[in-house]
Amino acid sequence: MAIFYSRSAEETRSWAEGYARTLRQGDVVLLEGEMGAGKTVIAQGIARGLGVREEVTSPTYAYVNEYGGLFHFDCYRVADEAQAYALGLADYFERGGICLVEWGENIRSLLPAGAKTVRIAGSGEGVREIRY
Ligand SMILES: Nc1ncnc2c1ncn2[C@@H]1O[C@H](COP(=O)(O)OP(=O)(O)O)[C@@H](O)[C@H]1O
Ligand SMILES: [Mg+2]
Repeated sequence: MAIFYSRSAEETRSWAEGYARTLRQGDVVLLEGEMGAGKTVIAQGIARGLGVREEVTSPTYAYVNEYGGLFHFDCYRVADEAQAYALGLADYFERGGICLVEWGENIRSLLPAGAKTVRIAGSGEGVREIRY
């Protein structure tokens, strides 16, 4: 486990860009932290590191946004694991891409063993602590 302290959203994106280079096809990364901590900012940096040119925003209507072989989940509004399963969310983990999952807590039983975790703590304009 390592810790990175970030003083700005851009610093978090830059860190995540580097972190992206440690990822391999098929990896599932759980982005953990409170609302507003910076999970989506991390997803933006990872996407940049993987060469995604589209703007990465939080999936709102859909639960998953797809950028080539990168899948970005936001499971905040998933009611329960049965609903997530019915929506086919588990299928994405079998597709061989890289999956970034916000609020994976809500679909715990569907998550593959061996998922990686990045936890970001802090709020507002304050410093963030990123554990990975
Ligand atoms: N060091 C930092 N790292 C990440 N985000 C930061 C940082 N400092 C301030 N922010 C701000 O915090 C907010 C994080 O939002 P977001 O990534 O959508 O949170 P989450 O997805 O965890 O709910 C953004 O408005 C971002 O600009
Ligand atoms: Mg988010």
